[in-house]
Amino acid sequence: ESTLGAAAAQSDRYFGVAIASGRLGDSVYTNIANREFNSVTAENEMKIDATQPQRGQFNFTAGDRVYNWAVQNGKQVRGHTLAWHSQQPGWMQSLSGGELRQAMIDHINGVMTHYRGRIVEWDVVNEAFADGGSGARRDSNLQRTGNDWIEVAFRTARAADPAAKLCYNDYNVENWNAAKTQAMYAMVRDFKQRGVPIDCVGFQAHFNEGNPYNSNFRTTLESFAALGVDVSVTELDIQGASPTTYANVTNDCLAVARCVGITVWGVRDSDSWRSHHTPLLFNNDGSKKPAYDAVLNALNGG
Ligand code: G3I
Repeated sequence: ESTLGAAAAQSDRYFGVAIASGRLGDSVYTNIANREFNSVTAENEMKIDATQPQRGQFNFTAGDRVYNWAVQNGKQVRGHTLAWHSQQPGWMQSLSGGELRQAMIDHINGVMTHYRGRIVEWDVVNEAFADGGSGARRDSNLQRTGNDWIEVAFRTARAADPAAKLCYNDYNVENWNAAKTQAMYAMVRDFKQRGVPIDCVGFQAHFNEGNPYNSNFRTTLESFAALGVDVSVTELDIQGASPTTYANVTNDCLAVARCVGITVWGVRDSDSWRSHHTPLLFNNDGSKKPAYDAVLNALNGG
């Protein structure tokens, strides 16, 4: 196959991209995105600050722009993200305790009801573990509402849209030996044992000097899959865009039956949140980088 999406579809996987609504008027951008990818994640437009800027007043204008572009072009959509310590609107940042807990529940219900039945998988909770070697939860206003906030979010999400797969998503959890990875693993195992509704785990896979790719990523994907969840690579970008590393990540996903797809976090380097890392698959002029060929070749079984 000659595009990433078609090549991934050969093994019933998707190959997705983060889309920014502000770039949908750029035809170089939309031509590549439409040609190459068959899954879309809104880079910012379905986050809490975008979808509920004032308490109780939901706004899906930008989220729907991304959603409609994706669906009109035949792509599935990943929802990102419902409960997160970052990109909270001001009104939520100032809440705590029971009020914040209820606001989280209301937010999940509001957004998931709007997109009910239309989103394949949702990142219900994002980035809840601390960096470094502690293996602890990240301190945040949500965490301070009680350690059970994550399972409450998942139970709320299941009821709001029973058709959606419910994911936990985090970064720097690709290396099997990292404390953060092990802490996330213990949580997912506990959720599965206790029947907390979780269907999938997203590995953001922002690889850089601080979080280098390690070949034990495949062990990580296999280990989580063995708990009975789907796994996916949700925000892939690699500092310097080494073709070898891109191929390795692709082959790691292909090696794990429950790795359902890969999403890269932007189209061209100039679209990246870390554009100075030149981490993506396309040059600023829209041409394909060597990393693109490496990924396509891997997806085609090379
Ligand atoms: O839209 C405003 C614009 O009106 C304003 O003029 C401008 C001035 O700074 O800011 C614009 O908002 C920016 C937004 O991106 C849209 O471009 C925010 O400042 C900026 O903080 C925001 O960054 C996003 C970041 O999440 C915020 O946490 C990145 O685009 C986005 O790629 C990044 O994505 C995250 C994932 O959601 C979770 N995992 C990590 C990943 C990378 O940080």
